[in-house]
Amino acid sequence: MKILFAASEASPLIKTGGLGDVAGSLPDTLAQLGAEVRVVLPAYRNVARQLQSVQHYGSLMIPGAVEPVALHSGRLNDNGPLIILVDAHGLYDRDGGPYADSSGRAYADNANRFAVFSRAVTALALGRGGDNWHPDVVHCNDWQTGLTPALLAREWNRPATLFTVHNLAYQGVFNYSDFRRLELPAALWSMDGLEFHGNFSFIKGGLAFADVITTVSPTYASQICTPALGYGLEGLLSYRQERLFGVLNGIDTDVWNPATDPHLPSRYDADHLAAKIPNKAALQAAFGLPQRDDVLLFGHIGRLVEQKGADLIIGVLPRLLQQDKVQVVVLGKGEPHLEAALAAAATRYPEQVGVILDYNESRSHLLEAGSDCFLMPSRFEPCGLNQMYSLRYGSLPIVHRTGGLADTVVDATTGALFDGTANGFVFEHASLDALWWAIERAIQFRQRPPVYWEKMQRAGMARDFSWRASAARYLDLYRFAMDHPAVPSLVASGSRG
Ligand code: ADP
Ligand code: GLC
Repeated sequence: MKILFAASEASPLIKTGGLGDVAGSLPDTLAQLGAEVRVVLPAYRNVARQLQSVQHYGSLMIPGAVEPVALHSGRLNDNGPLIILVDAHGLYDRDGGPYADSSGRAYADNANRFAVFSRAVTALALGRGGDNWHPDVVHCNDWQTGLTPALLAREWNRPATLFTVHNLAYQGVFNYSDFRRLELPAALWSMDGLEFHGNFSFIKGGLAFADVITTVSPTYASQICTPALGYGLEGLLSYRQERLFGVLNGIDTDVWNPATDPHLPSRYDADHLAAKIPNKAALQAAFGLPQRDDVLLFGHIGRLVEQKGADLIIGVLPRLLQQDKVQVVVLGKGEPHLEAALAAAATRYPEQVGVILDYNESRSHLLEAGSDCFLMPSRFEPCGLNQMYSLRYGSLPIVHRTGGLADTVVDATTGALFDGTANGFVFEHASLDALWWAIERAIQFRQRPPVYWEKMQRAGMARDFSWRASAARYLDLYRFAMDHPAVPSLVASGSRG
């Protein structure tokens, strides 16, 4: 099976969050399972030079791009999938990140940047622009690739399309004037198409037109069909429910392996948990905290935004820090008021709170290994990778029961402790009291004989989070998409043009 995998970021080339991890690891596993995979990404600054033997792949004429769009190809390593870079003059090769400038402001021309990208993916999906390679399926991810299923739905000779929602909160909504400026087919401006309450929605292109829609956990797949987490798209998603599937993300078990992790001063596994302990001292040192072995160390990593509940962590600190044998470390970057509140907490409690307001891959590994508990009070979480990393690193996650957190963390109830499945602490509502209740349970649990804690660590470390099962599931869904092409109402009603 030939798969074109399109995403706006892929680790280690370019990453701002979990999408990067997924696009960086799922294609490799699909290839190991026998698929022929090509990954397509925008040619952001410094991406091409991380690839081996970069070659000219082809070129495309695309509306919205001032010159012909150049396509380059290369690989990260000999066995990795072919990576195709879409190099549109002036659109991707910039200072700053993939979506925003260095000060965090979204680029004003994002509609055009990702329309050009979606159109390039569409052309590649139809075998144009390169070596006449015709994929069977194009796998699109998030709104930046949302126009591709919509544009492909109008083509007779198209491959099957699968669209994955990594986070429905980010939809790529722009104005009608942007829609006009991008010279998209007029028929797409419809309630059944890209129009959304008078605006122009990229994500609707994926949701309304893809043969199969997936999201990144079973629980989130049902949550997005409700008003609470559907953002007004729950009707469309419910209507397409027979084509909507939840597939839990895997993790890269080579990159996230405490037994081989080069970022750790002391490597360990489930049979050598004592070797985890030196990482705690290293973590305390890295975050400027006193190196004490007798404290319970809580960690958090994440984008500092409302979704992730960093405000709940900040809010719970006064109660938590009354306990004297407790420390908290936070690694994150995001909204200025959350950064300021965390920095203030670190100043106020220098012995107990350590904060690094930065994006730092190496520190994130150390934090997973050195902390005892990982705080993840996300208000919603489509999948979440950090709770899986912490399970694998024997740091017990404390999570809100939502999305992928609900699907991966098993609460320390008496029954789950008895049958050996318990691996963390789960609370029901994203509130301060509920978070505090779970933290208190962790603190009390720690006072029991260590075998109980270690049993939970081992339960988490033993769980298989590799991509194998989920990648096999994607292969099944690609086949389903190929066998059951969707005929969206816009196309069925004959409004091609
Ligand atoms: P999301 O994609 O919503 O941000 P995920 O849990 O799926 O959440 O993935 C986040 C990814 O980004 C993880 O790999 C996490 O370690 C990483 N990450 C987030 N913030 C930072 C940071 N400040 N430093 C290093 N890595 C980070
Ligand atoms: C999104 C979600 C996160 C998920 C990631 C990868 O960024 O917020 O929950 O793990 O995508 O699918």
